[in-house]
Amino acid sequence: MNGKQPQTQLANEMFSAIENDLRAALGVIGDKNYFAFQEMIEYHLGWHSEITKVKGKRIRPLLTLLICGALGGKWQNALPAATAIELIHNFSLIHDDIEDHSELRRGQQTVWKKWGTPRAINLGDALFVIGRLSSHRLADQGIDLGTTLSVVKVLDQACLQLTIGQDLDLLFEKRDHVSEEEYLDMIYGKTAALIAAATGVGAIVAGADAVKIRAVENIGKSLGLAFQIQDDILGIWGVPNKTGKSATDDLQTRKKTLPIIYGLARSQEFVDLWKMPSSDKATLEAMRNALHRAQALEDARALAEKYTDMAEESLQALEPEGTYASELLSLSRKLLSRQN
Ligand code: IPE
Ligand code: IPE
Ligand code: MG
Ligand code: MG
Repeated sequence: MNGKQPQTQLANEMFSAIENDLRAALGVIGDKNYFAFQEMIEYHLGWHSEITKVKGKRIRPLLTLLICGALGGKWQNALPAATAIELIHNFSLIHDDIEDHSELRRGQQTVWKKWGTPRAINLGDALFVIGRLSSHRLADQGIDLGTTLSVVKVLDQACLQLTIGQDLDLLFEKRDHVSEEEYLDMIYGKTAALIAAATGVGAIVAGADAVKIRAVENIGKSLGLAFQIQDDILGIWGVPNKTGKSATDDLQTRKKTLPIIYGLARSQEFVDLWKMPSSDKATLEAMRNALHRAQALEDARALAEKYTDMAEESLQALEPEGTYASELLSLSRKLLSRQN
């Protein structure tokens, strides 16, 4: 995840298949209508630049393909589902940046900042629908209708969870107290549900039975919870040059991220800083230090590690195909220590 580690040949093949399939899925817009969106789509998906960071990590579609292979399926068959997940993820990022007032993503200006909120809403809506349409391509490519419909249903359910989670995230900004349990429900909705869907659809296309699909969704859920906790950590202690995002937005908007929940419960020093009406640079730094003293960083890391361990143990129990399994395990470790 730091862009310096060499990728395996399998991961390289998958990454380039994902990029090609994203282009194929976006072909549905066709004719002149695509033109209006073209510049914004290419910008947001990072196709206008050689810099890797602006493309995003594409970890969700990668998970779909790896799970499909790990369960004995042909990973290429899962590409329309993997692409659907990535497009839905990108729709959610475009709307998320409006909701969070974030001006920077993937090291460049956010879509709303560059083209205005109304057009960013339109682009997000378009990517959402193109994501759904992408999953219908499973049937076009010879996957049976029952399997295709199951994938569409999993995606729709995840989108609903995502929207509910995003709304809770905003409601929590205004609340003084949010419990760890409420926080975990919220991040399940906004992040882990789509990652669970990413793994689930891989299992569905591989032809797994219902019990295995559920087990795989739980692996995705654990990975997703760990992923969001690491995102919370980077939201406070990340380096903008690496994350491509702000390291002050979460503190400024009073997001109830996990380190903050720990800080509010454990440190009067932190509570006093948090309650101040505005936060200059020195106050933000004092907040970070108070969080450190309250072991907020350490304990958030430990929880992310716990969920990663759970995911890995459940994966091993499924006795996945060797090459795909080792790729999945290495991905889950990289996600835990990612700096972007
Ligand atoms: C960011 O997701 C939003 C979260 C759910 C935390 P990613 O970190 O996967 O974003 P990109 O696609 O790689 O930019
Ligand atoms: C993550 O939101 C979930 C979605 C985008 C749906 P965040 O607001 O926590 O993620 P970043 O840090 O902006 O990527
Ligand atoms: Mg958000
Ligand atoms: Mg955000």
